[in-house]
Amino acid sequence: MGASIKKAVFPVAGLGTRFLPATKAMPKEMLTVVDRPVIQWVVDEAREAGIEHFIFVTGRNKGVIEDHFDKQFELEQTLRDRGKLSELAVLEADLPAAGQTSFTRQQQPLGLGHAVWCARELVSGQPFALLLPDMLVEGGAGCLKQMIEAHDRLGGNIIALAEVPPQDTGAYGIVEVGEASGNTFEITGMVEKPAPDVAPSNLMIMGRYILQPEIFGHLETQEKGASGEIQITDAMAALHKEQKFHGINYEGRTYDCGDKIGFLSANVAFALNRPDLRDAFMRALDEVLKSAR
Ligand code: G1P
Repeated sequence: MGASIKKAVFPVAGLGTRFLPATKAMPKEMLTVVDRPVIQWVVDEAREAGIEHFIFVTGRNKGVIEDHFDKQFELEQTLRDRGKLSELAVLEADLPAAGQTSFTRQQQPLGLGHAVWCARELVSGQPFALLLPDMLVEGGAGCLKQMIEAHDRLGGNIIALAEVPPQDTGAYGIVEVGEASGNTFEITGMVEKPAPDVAPSNLMIMGRYILQPEIFGHLETQEKGASGEIQITDAMAALHKEQKFHGINYEGRTYDCGDKIGFLSANVAFALNRPDLRDAFMRALDEVLKSAR
């Protein structure tokens, strides 16, 4: 299981303007949910799904992400000297093996589609996973793992879907779905950021994809789309004329950490899910809510 998809792309070049001033000198992907950066949660999801090669599309001022996935000799030696072995074990467990990470730069902010296209040589002609680090999924069997299982069954391209309030369709890629079979749907159309009155549904493209390498041919020739950017959704719509796409209604709750409320909610939900924090945090939260009301 999971043997079919070995590479995952993480576009991490975005500016994070919605979180200024926190993101003035620090990438938004390094914002913390409980005690690990957002990007670490997403890399862990990919690793648990069987991914073996982690490809990051970075930009200027993102060097700390590369450092985060490297060894920190001085820190490790200090922890060893002080007998802090459980902290050391946490660092070691999180570290991808040598050669499992690659970093390439998106030189200009031309859009998500362009960022993915920058990874074409590293993906090198095989189906791959694409994970947008803004989105965290809590609970369930792991979103990407469920998608790889669906891909093993169905082949083609798989995208994770989540419902949004109908008035919010203009913030996301939205799909039109046909026949359902279990937790998957055939996708019959997709459009980036449609206004609510023209949106084909309220099912958004959540930020996890399994794509066939032919997507790169469509990204190469692509015109600018919604928001004047090269959009992955437009390239998928073009590929959809040649290949099948299925949507998956995965288990788990989704948090949009690119949005302040989503990010704060993720911190609460992920902390409550931690056996070592749950009870004490619940009591602390009760106190905060009581005094805020
Ligand atoms: C991107 C995708 C969009 C998707 C969204 C999920 O949009 O283009 O299709 O629904 O991520 O977060 P962005 O958030 O970059 O505007």
